[in-house]
Amino acid sequence: MESISRGLEDVNIKWTRLTTIDGEKGILWYAGYRIEDIINAKAKAEEIQYLFLYGNLPNRSQLDDFEKKVQQGYKIPDYSIKAITALPRTSDAVALQMNAMATFAATEKFAWNKATDRDTAARIIGQMASVTAVAIRHAMGKEPRLLEPSSSLAESFLKAVFDRSPNEKEIEAMNDALILYLDHEVPASTTAGLVVVSTLSDMYSGIVGALAALKGPLHGGAEEAAAMQFQEIGDPSKVDSWFQENIKSGKKRLMGFGHRVYKTYDPRAKIFKRLAQELNLKGAPKTLYEIAERLEELGIKELGAKGIYPNTDFYSGIVYMGLGFPLQNNIYTALFALSRVTGWMAHFIEYVEEQHRLIRPRAVYVGPSERPFVPLDKR
Ligand code: ACO
Repeated sequence: MESISRGLEDVNIKWTRLTTIDGEKGILWYAGYRIEDIINAKAKAEEIQYLFLYGNLPNRSQLDDFEKKVQQGYKIPDYSIKAITALPRTSDAVALQMNAMATFAATEKFAWNKATDRDTAARIIGQMASVTAVAIRHAMGKEPRLLEPSSSLAESFLKAVFDRSPNEKEIEAMNDALILYLDHEVPASTTAGLVVVSTLSDMYSGIVGALAALKGPLHGGAEEAAAMQFQEIGDPSKVDSWFQENIKSGKKRLMGFGHRVYKTYDPRAKIFKRLAQELNLKGAPKTLYEIAERLEELGIKELGAKGIYPNTDFYSGIVYMGLGFPLQNNIYTALFALSRVTGWMAHFIEYVEEQHRLIRPRAVYVGPSERPFVPLDKR
């Protein structure tokens, strides 16, 4: 039988100038800049969004101009809001993002165009931020509220969700989360979106496809699952027995551990761990951090030899919880998507503009050989 590439493992589907990963050493670069250097320099998320879309870090006036383009997306139409609020408050937040983004696919006349793709993408970042704020507020039982311009996307977003001015620490944590999840080469979600735009469908439809793939528990959904697992354990004194019963026995996978590319500690997980540890924000009980830390220790001892270490989803949920986002309705994955939408669009633009080809793989047929068709009443 002809061989197939299960899971497209190690198949290169495009070239990129955006992100590169050394999975053996645990290094992540965004267009040549190490993720740690970006975070330590206290870069603003908008600077890195600009880097992904336009290829270089912006100067001050380019950044101001870019931020205005993002802000133009904040005001979304009533029908996009209704695509969220018409659904039950228990709805999955990522599916609500899909619904609302699909309203733009339905109504906006999008055509791929080198002269306008990047500016459109900047506006979509703003639209996605308002969509996400409305979806999260809906889950929290609150009326819709859109973002309004302020000093940063992180600040505007937190204000819109929580109806109050966030403090500096909270803005910094949200800003860093926006950067840490911004891109990661071509995981399942980006690949799903690339398949969509390879048909020359529009940018919004590509995002809807990517969101659908992100939602699953083996990808972005792991973030909520990891935090749920800490909550299920509930008490640091119960970690060891829970681990024996569930992970060592092979009954469950340790969520937030393991990665197709990283065979060592994911560098983003280290930064999220520091944020979770340092921030001491309101929402997350300290015990959750203690549970996570002990679980990490046991997980590495048991699985580290197989190259299974904490991934970016292990500690990020504690940071989101600390910021006050409730652990429900896949909200943490919706926050991941808010960040990743920039990476998705940057990859779509790279692909459509410079290396476009319809993605249409083949399947090796292993079914019956030709046989006579028997009509229904003769079967
Ligand atoms: N817990 C326990 N065992 C694990 C885990 C884990 N989290 N991850 C992998 N393994 C084991 C598998 O059981 C398998 O063992 P075996 O060889 O004895 O059968 C071996 O490691 C290889 O696992 P695969 O699933 O083949 O590896 P793959 O590259 O497909 O896995 C994946 C990647 C899906 C992320 C996996 O590690 C996993 O399920 N992790 C938990 C979910 C998760 O955290 N996902 C988030 C990924 S990061 C992101 O999307 C942002």
